Amino acid sequence: SMASEESKAPSFFLLVFFSLSLVCCAGASNGAAATGDDAAMLLAIRASLVDTLGELRGWGSAPHCGWKGVRCDDRGAITGLDLAGLNLSGAVPDDVLGLSALTSVVLRGNAFAGELPAALVSIPTLRELDVSDNGFAGRFPAGLGSCASLAHFNSSGNNFVGPLPADLGNATELETLDVRGGFFSGTIPESYGRLRKLKFLGLAGNNLSGALPAVLFELTALEQIIIGYNEFTGPIPAAIGKLKNLRYLDMAIGGLEGPIPPELGRLPVLDTVFLYGNNIGGEIPKELGNLSSLVMLDLSENALTGAIPPELAQLAHLLLLNLMCNRLKGDVPAGVGELPRLEVLQLWNNSLTGPLPLSLGAAQPLQWLDVSTNALSGPVPAGLCGSGNLTGLILFNNAFTGPIPTSLATCSSLVRVRAHNNRLNGAVPTALGRLHRLDRLELAGNGLSGEIPDDLALSTSLSFIDLSRNRLRSALPPRILSIPTLQTFAAAGNELTGGVPDELGGCRALSALDLSGNRLSGAIPAGLASCQQLASLILRRNSLAGEIPRPFATMPALSVLDLSNNLLSGEIPSNLGSSPALEMLSVAHNNLTGPVPATGLLRTISPNDLAGNPGLCGGVLPPCTASAPRASASILRRSHVKHNVAVGWAIRISVALLVACGGALFLGLVLYRRRYVNGGGCCDDAVEDDGRSSSTAFQRLSFTDAQALACVKEDNIVGQQVKQEVGCDGIGAQNHKEST
Ligand SMILES: *[C@@H]1O[C@H](CO)[C@@H](O)[C@H](O)[C@H]1NC(C)=O
Ligand SMILES: *[C@@H]1O[C@H](CO)[C@@H](O)[C@H](O)[C@H]1NC(C)=O
Ligand SMILES: *[C@@H]1O[C@H](CO)[C@@H](O)[C@H](O)[C@H]1NC(C)=O
Ligand SMILES: *[C@@H]1O[C@H](CO)[C@@H](O)[C@H](O)[C@H]1NC(C)=O
Ligand SMILES: *[C@@H]1O[C@H](CO)[C@@H](O)[C@H](O)[C@H]1NC(C)=O
Ligand SMILES: *[C@@H]1O[C@H](CO)[C@@H](O)[C@H](O)[C@H]1NC(C)=O
Ligand SMILES: *[C@@H]1O[C@H](CO)[C@@H](O)[C@H](O)[C@H]1NC(C)=O
Ligand SMILES: *[C@@H]1O[C@H](CO)[C@@H](O)[C@H](O)[C@H]1NC(C)=O
Repeated sequence: SMASEESKAPSFFLLVFFSLSLVCCAGASNGAAATGDDAAMLLAIRASLVDTLGELRGWGSAPHCGWKGVRCDDRGAITGLDLAGLNLSGAVPDDVLGLSALTSVVLRGNAFAGELPAALVSIPTLRELDVSDNGFAGRFPAGLGSCASLAHFNSSGNNFVGPLPADLGNATELETLDVRGGFFSGTIPESYGRLRKLKFLGLAGNNLSGALPAVLFELTALEQIIIGYNEFTGPIPAAIGKLKNLRYLDMAIGGLEGPIPPELGRLPVLDTVFLYGNNIGGEIPKELGNLSSLVMLDLSENALTGAIPPELAQLAHLLLLNLMCNRLKGDVPAGVGELPRLEVLQLWNNSLTGPLPLSLGAAQPLQWLDVSTNALSGPVPAGLCGSGNLTGLILFNNAFTGPIPTSLATCSSLVRVRAHNNRLNGAVPTALGRLHRLDRLELAGNGLSGEIPDDLALSTSLSFIDLSRNRLRSALPPRILSIPTLQTFAAAGNELTGGVPDELGGCRALSALDLSGNRLSGAIPAGLASCQQLASLILRRNSLAGEIPRPFATMPALSVLDLSNNLLSGEIPSNLGSSPALEMLSVAHNNLTGPVPATGLLRTISPNDLAGNPGLCGGVLPPCTASAPRASASILRRSHVKHNVAVGWAIRISVALLVACGGALFLGLVLYRRRYVNGGGCCDDAVEDDGRSSSTAFQRLSFTDAQALACVKEDNIVGQQVKQEVGCDGIGAQNHKEST
């Protein structure tokens, strides 16, 4: 029989076979079915596979056409092997070449590794080859170019290196070419310009480089081009205007340059355009307004200039418009407020001016609006939450004026309100505390006046509240620190009166409290020491009196304690310097007395952090003699500088660690970093962490690692492509998936 001959002399068999295959590949394959031999060959194939789960255990008893994964035609000849997801590994032997009617081999999602068996690219009758999601590595062997009927080829999610197989350009029946998520390098072979029937081109997430070959844009059958996350350079050819069937275009993350060709606007069925994360310059062509099927447009993180063309307002199906991190200027076109399906609008980090369209959100299912870091002015549109779907309202670093619309206080979908550093005035709306999903409320650096509404303390969801640098004048709501989810509360630089709230209700999550620069009086509640997570406590520049609570010395997480410029009296608690996590302590300018305990941090503390307490002595200060002389001014100055630099670095490092680890970021530390390190710049607004992974790494993972996907989906707030306001670097990984 064929099988036994083959096992005796496999190389002879192969030789014969290859001579035959030349004929077959020319399209004349029609061997008579030799079913007995087929069964034997299947068993030979199984014998060289490693089947840890015993999935192919049932192979053996006739008829073989009923065996798992085996497909036959009506004459009993094997036409398909579908062995997807069986955790198979081992080798695919040349026996597969004996199956003379085989048109489909699907090995998707197994545990194969090593080089791709040459047999798999030598099956002349093949129409479909899917080896995706395995661990195949090495160079991709030549051979598929001789498979004249090959229509679907998928090797995504493997570890192939080296050039793309150029001979594939001879497989002119090819409709699907998917090699995403590997390590292919080099350029796109010119030979691919012969793939006239190609509908799907997936090259994303490899190490491909060079210019996009013009011939690619002659392939008018193309419906999907997904070639991002590579290192392609050069322009997007104007010939792209010929791809009349193109629905999906993803060239995100790469080195593409030059302007967006206006010809792109000629594609009638195009619904998705992702060009983010390149170096594309010039203006956004107004012709894009002609893309009547467009649903997603993401041109973010490029070098686009000029204004947002008003023509974009013609895009009646547009759901997502991401233009952040460019150099756009001018107004946000009024028509953007009329786009009937708009859910996500992200324009942050540009130089846009003028007001937002007043109709924005009123008749739109708006979910996420981020226009932060521009020069926008005028009022916050009142109807932003018109459809009740708004989760993110990100307006910081602009010049918005007027009150915060009270309509927002009934917008129960809200998760984030970040409106710091504007010129908003009026009161903080009441009822924000009743928004049961609201997580962040950032209103710092505005001109807000009046009270902090009591009902804010009713919240069961807020984790971050920053009301600093306004003109708020009231007592703090007594229960504000007992919001169970609260991690950071800052209200520095207002005119707050009364005491530090002592209803702490467990303060389970509280890690940063900054009430500095107010008019708070009374004693510091000792109960704060029960806040186990509290890492940063900043109460400087108030009128707090009484003693430093002794239990502060045993707070497990406390690393920054600033009580300077108050009216505190009594002694420094003897073990305060040994507080386990303490890195920065200042009690300067109070009325403390007695010896400075020479323990822990207090042994090396800068005298500056003790200054202005005439009654303190000993330790780093002059000894406690009858009339201790003051430390000389020059010593003070020198140690001050040293200390600040050291603290600056320590804090900078811990901030970086916190960001990297996805932990809560402590506002106190950020404030200190700003104070000590000549900062400013991009990172200033990176107050939150999104746990994003590096873009290419993620892209690769995403083809194989379901957990990576699940993890990203967990972050999903909007269910759409939302990239958050953390700075432009590394935002790409997020919006490739439906996620944030
Ligand atoms: C899948 O196969 C690999 C390699 O053969 C083996 O290490 C692993 O345990 C298998 N997984 C399961 C779930 O059996
Ligand atoms: C290729 O295979 C991957 C993984 O199995 C799959 O997600 C992808 O959709 C396939 N490509 C095409 C074009 O069907
Ligand atoms: C493609 O086929 C032609 C003949 O049809 C042959 O000359 C050429 O070498 C093949 N190209 C590749 C890359 O195999
Ligand atoms: C592919 O590119 C990545 C990142 O650009 C790089 O780290 C890696 O070494 C490259 N791998 C190969 C095989 O070229
Ligand atoms: C495309 O847009 C231009 C300018 O916006 C317009 O003049 C032209 O009529 C549009 N063409 C089509 C086919 O809609
Ligand atoms: C918007 O919210 C409403 C309920 O408030 C819901 O019925 C609708 O489906 C949402 N629309 C979108 C696009 O999510
Ligand atoms: C400082 O404390 C002493 C008692 O320790 C008290 O006599 C004095 O009035 C206090 N000074 C101020 C300015 O509060
Ligand atoms: C803003 O965009 C520019 C250019 O894209 C970039 O260099 C800069 O880092 C971005 N700034 C922030 C805060 O993301």
